[in-house]
Amino acid sequence: MELQKAKDKLAQIGQEHVLAFYDELDGAQKEALLDQIEETDFSVLSRLSDKTDGKRGVFAPLAAMQISRIEQRRSELYEAGVLAIRAGKTAALLLAGGMGTRLGFDHPKGMYNVGVTKELYIFECIVNNLLDTVNETGTWIRLFIMTSEKNHEDTVSFFKEKNYFGYKADMVTFFKQKMAPCCDLDGRLFMEAKDRISTSPNGNAGWYSSMVRDGLDAILRDEGIEWIDVFAVDNVLQRICDPCFVGATVLADVSVGAKVVRKAAPDEKVGVMCTEDGRPSIVEYYELSQEMMDAKDENGDPAYNYGVILNYLFRTSELEKVTDDKMPLHVVKKKIPHITKTGEPVSPAEPNGYKFEQLVLDMIHQLSTCLPYEVVREKEFAPIKNLTGVDSVDSARELLRANGVEL
Ligand code: UTP
Repeated sequence: MELQKAKDKLAQIGQEHVLAFYDELDGAQKEALLDQIEETDFSVLSRLSDKTDGKRGVFAPLAAMQISRIEQRRSELYEAGVLAIRAGKTAALLLAGGMGTRLGFDHPKGMYNVGVTKELYIFECIVNNLLDTVNETGTWIRLFIMTSEKNHEDTVSFFKEKNYFGYKADMVTFFKQKMAPCCDLDGRLFMEAKDRISTSPNGNAGWYSSMVRDGLDAILRDEGIEWIDVFAVDNVLQRICDPCFVGATVLADVSVGAKVVRKAAPDEKVGVMCTEDGRPSIVEYYELSQEMMDAKDENGDPAYNYGVILNYLFRTSELEKVTDDKMPLHVVKKKIPHITKTGEPVSPAEPNGYKFEQLVLDMIHQLSTCLPYEVVREKEFAPIKNLTGVDSVDSARELLRANGVEL
């Protein structure tokens, strides 16, 4: 991009300071900064003054397939799932593009060692879990791994160094997600360096559009992949492409299956599956009215009782319906390292600015039907967000041990 065009683009949004160090840069740095200005979608910044956010539709309960029902139908679901997996109709997609700031680890979260007497990395736990399905069905399942430009090289070289933890290397495909600019609390863009605007991964919803950008949707079509199990890096206990879940989703003939756990308490802080204006959706815990918390289903159980755990089985043919511009943009307050007006680096101890993200749970609302599928929390949900306390390395280690995983 030419310098004048970059100046015009920045002037339109009142962010001229991005070029404050321009004259100090060498030729390559100048070019890199101008390229970044050209590529960056600054429209996210307008979300800071947009007050229309948060308007929701009419919520109604969405019944889950409960564990008791799954047990009754286990062999039927299992067979249907194994059939789909053996026919090569399923793939797995690991969302590993997040910054994992709460864990405070200097590398991609998946490189964290949860082992105690031996090495056991988060990525390794996930691959082991997927290998259970591979071994059970005698079928290799294609594994896509989404990274971001912040952690791509680290992630790819770690997998290579560890020999893919026993997974088949040519069944693993890495791709990078898109980035979004970050700004301070007044909406002023942060600079990461004199030649670079601060950016962060644009949220975990971007996985499908990033795959399309890289032409990876062709793999889905060419290989006849009809279902893709999308899951987070944090949960070291989750089952991936497990036959019963696959079978239940296929037989229910829905657009997406969503693993859910029964809420531990009516006010537990998890997003809950429901419908919104007749479409599947997720209501956040702070959006639940007292009336919704008190509502009961026909069995007398709480009607809004199933929290999502970020493990969804998407029907691939429905993904074209999902477009980024239809999804809400979430503004998240985070700690953002940057340089000052005089070029000094700052690593903030407290949240100092905003990142912009689209979330995978908002994809669900663009689809027509969803099957919430209940799993046993203690067996399938051990998220690692923090080092200690709730949803931490400590709590995950306890749950891993309780499930017979040697640490
Ligand atoms: P989290 O919501 O825990 O976000 O992501 P995070 O950014 O990694 O963690 P904190 O908040 O900074 O501590 C849930 C899942 O979505 C992925 C994460 O890697 C994790 O698997 N994710 C998140 C992405 O792949 N891309 C993103 O832009 C954000």
